[in-house]
Amino acid sequence: MNDQSGIDSEKPNGLHVAFIMDGNGRWAKARRRPRPFGHQAGAKRTREVVEACPDLGVKYVTLYAFSTENWKRSRAEITALMALFRYTIRKTARDLHAEGARVRFIGDRAPLDKKLIKLMNELEELTRDNDRVHVTVALNYGGRDEILRATRKMAEAVKAGELEPAEISEDTMHDYLDTAGLPDPDLVVRTSGESRTSNFLTWQTAYAEFEFTDTLWPDFGKEQFAEALDKFGLRERRYGGV
Ligand code: FPP
Repeated sequence: MNDQSGIDSEKPNGLHVAFIMDGNGRWAKARRRPRPFGHQAGAKRTREVVEACPDLGVKYVTLYAFSTENWKRSRAEITALMALFRYTIRKTARDLHAEGARVRFIGDRAPLDKKLIKLMNELEELTRDNDRVHVTVALNYGGRDEILRATRKMAEAVKAGELEPAEISEDTMHDYLDTAGLPDPDLVVRTSGESRTSNFLTWQTAYAEFEFTDTLWPDFGKEQFAEALDKFGLRERRYGGV
């Protein structure tokens, strides 16, 4: 519940905002440039949004970078996106660590290329003790796929005699999902005018607020982020305090 200062008194751990970063392709098209140009511009905005989190009272930020459905895109676009993920991780790892970001990746890593998996593992390891802002990147992620993988793991545990079917609860599910240990999102923002959830955090968004904005992701920055929080009364107003 919000008190009069706008500080969410029941959220001592800070807000969780999840982003469906949509519209990179249309942004590039409007400039008569190839789609990867839009993804590059989008990656810069991703950096800006992550950097803005502590100032806006956001402790957890989750970013939908690549879905299980995105493999249907052209081979050229997939190759460009994977190269962009490798480049972005290499380029930002040290700064993210210095800023106190703990980075996690969710989704099925198995089909990703080995160099990318290595960079993901290294970044998780480098930042594992950080706690200023928790950045979760969904890469080859699908909500249904995550629930299926969790269900298979639970079935294996039952088979091994480690889990009682009658004891499976929402908490058990939480522990078996890729997002184990993370609070559910308070707000999901989707850019570019589409009002679908597209298989994003299917279990975790049962009680989330949703904001669908027409702004394309490469045009979305700190100002739009603050506006989205204000709209839902979620912004922690610290008036320069700690
Ligand atoms: C959706 O726009 C965007 C993506 C599928 C890629 C998102 C990735 C980034 C913004 C790079 C972020 C990098 C990291 C490491 C997190 P779209 O291509 O669907 O746009 P369209 O709907 O206009 O075609």
